[in-house]
Amino acid sequence: MAASTLVVIAHPDLTGSSRVNRRWAEKLAKHPDEFDVRDLYALYPSGVLDEAGIAAERAALEAHDIIIFQFPVYWYSAPALLRTWTDEVYGFGWAYGGEDAAPGEPGRKLAGKKFAVAMCAGDIEGNYCAEGTVGFTPSEVIVPFRATANYVGATCEPEPFCLFGTENGLGDEELEASAAAYLSWLRTL
Ligand SMILES: Cc1cc2nc3c(=O)[nH]c(=O)nc-3n(C[C@H](O)[C@H](O)[C@H](O)COP(=O)(O)O)c2cc1C
Repeated sequence: MAASTLVVIAHPDLTGSSRVNRRWAEKLAKHPDEFDVRDLYALYPSGVLDEAGIAAERAALEAHDIIIFQFPVYWYSAPALLRTWTDEVYGFGWAYGGEDAAPGEPGRKLAGKKFAVAMCAGDIEGNYCAEGTVGFTPSEVIVPFRATANYVGATCEPEPFCLFGTENGLGDEELEASAAAYLSWLRTL
């Protein structure tokens, strides 16, 4: 049986330059009964999803109740392939366009599912607030995910799981602690 949680990872170099997302992915891989993973940049290295890719992504989403988007913050958003993935996968007549349909039927395929975001940011936590250099909280940064969830009839955790200061001398112990905290957070969803 498939795990109940699908983790969609968007990192352009997950097995190379990534430190945080790679460690988090390694943690997930130890619990295949709980988590299925889609590594988008490994699956679609050309950055293009063809019809077979779109069908595979939709099948994965349909098979899970909880969907996690895991990525490094790039320009207060996610790496580009996650946007392409959303544009292609959340099509009319599949994710939306069926207002009178029951949840799970064409046009409302994502209705009733639970979404959440797990991200890491180079900047320090203190800058992610109204008074900080970023000017917005993490919850505000993920508004596009929250609004999209609303539109397709899903729910999105308003607060992302977030590791800050990844480019600020992040130590191995802190990284390890974040992987454990990530696993615990996932299990609360
Ligand atoms: C193109 C690019 C854009 C970035 N934009 C941001 C940003 O807007 N805010 C921020 O806090 N960190 C930003 N960073 C830092 C990344 O979030 C950081 O490299 C990441 O958390 C490290 O995760 P990893 O070890 O999995 O690669 C950016 C990094 C890159 C490469």
